Amino acid sequence: MSRIPVFKKMDRYKAKNLQAFNTKWPNRYDSSLRMRLWTSQWDRGILTELPTDISSLRILDIGCATGRLLETLAEAGARHLAGIDLAPKILDIAQRRLAERGIKADLKAADAEDTLLWANESFDVVIMTGALHHFYRPIDALTEVHRVLCHRGRLIIIDPWFLPPLRQLFNLGLRFVSPNGDYHFYSPAEAVDMLASQGFVELRYRRADWNSFIVLGLKDKL
Ligand SMILES: C[S@@+](CC[C@H](N)C(=O)[O-])C[C@H]1O[C@@H](n2cnc3c(N)ncnc32)[C@H](O)[C@@H]1O
Repeated sequence: MSRIPVFKKMDRYKAKNLQAFNTKWPNRYDSSLRMRLWTSQWDRGILTELPTDISSLRILDIGCATGRLLETLAEAGARHLAGIDLAPKILDIAQRRLAERGIKADLKAADAEDTLLWANESFDVVIMTGALHHFYRPIDALTEVHRVLCHRGRLIIIDPWFLPPLRQLFNLGLRFVSPNGDYHFYSPAEAVDMLASQGFVELRYRRADWNSFIVLGLKDKL
C-alpha cells in the first residue's frame, strides 16, 4: 500500500499535502487534539444525512485518511465501503484499523482530482469530510464524483467554515504558507455553486457544527 502513486501533475499544494499526510500526520492524526476538535462532530453530521438502514448503500469516502469515518459507517451497518486518499502512509493506517476490526473496504491511494479508479455509477453515496479545501482542481474532483455516483446518488461534503473576513485572510495566507497543503476555504454558497456547475441538484447546506458546514446534493433529477 505504501507505494507513492504517480500523479499526472504535482502542484505545490498537492506536494505539501502529500508530504504532511504521508509523514507528519499518519501516526498522530487520530490523537491530535486539533484534529479531534475539528472532526468530532463530522461523522455524526454525516450519519444524520443518511437513511437509518445503510447496509445496502455503496459508499465512497474521499480523503478518508485514517479511516475514522469508514469505521463509523461500518458500525452503523454499512457493508459496501470504499475510500481514497492521496497519502499512502495514512491509508496504511486506515487499512490496518479496518482489518483489525474485520471491516472490508476497497481502499485506494490515488488523487481524487484525477480519474477515479471506479466505473461509472459505482456508488450511492460519496462523502468528503475536510477534503474539499485541499483540492487544487475541485471542479475536476466534482466531475469525477458525478460520474461515479448512480442515478439520484448523494454527495455529502463537510468542510471548515470561516466567516468573512477570516476566510479571505486565511485564503490570502495560504498563497504563501500552506504546511498541510490546504488550498482554499470556501463559503457554503461557493461550494453549492461549484456543485451546481457540475450538474448536482436539490442542493442545500447548513452548519455542521460551530466551525464547519455541510453541503448536500443529488446527482440528478428524478
Ligand atoms: C484534513 S484531512 C481529512 C481526513 C478525513 N476525511 C477526516 O474526516 O478526518 C484531508 C485528507 O484528504 C486527503 N487528500 C487531500 N487532497 C487529496 C486528493 N487530491 N485526493 C485524495 N485525497 C486527498 C489528505 O491526504 C488527507 O488525508
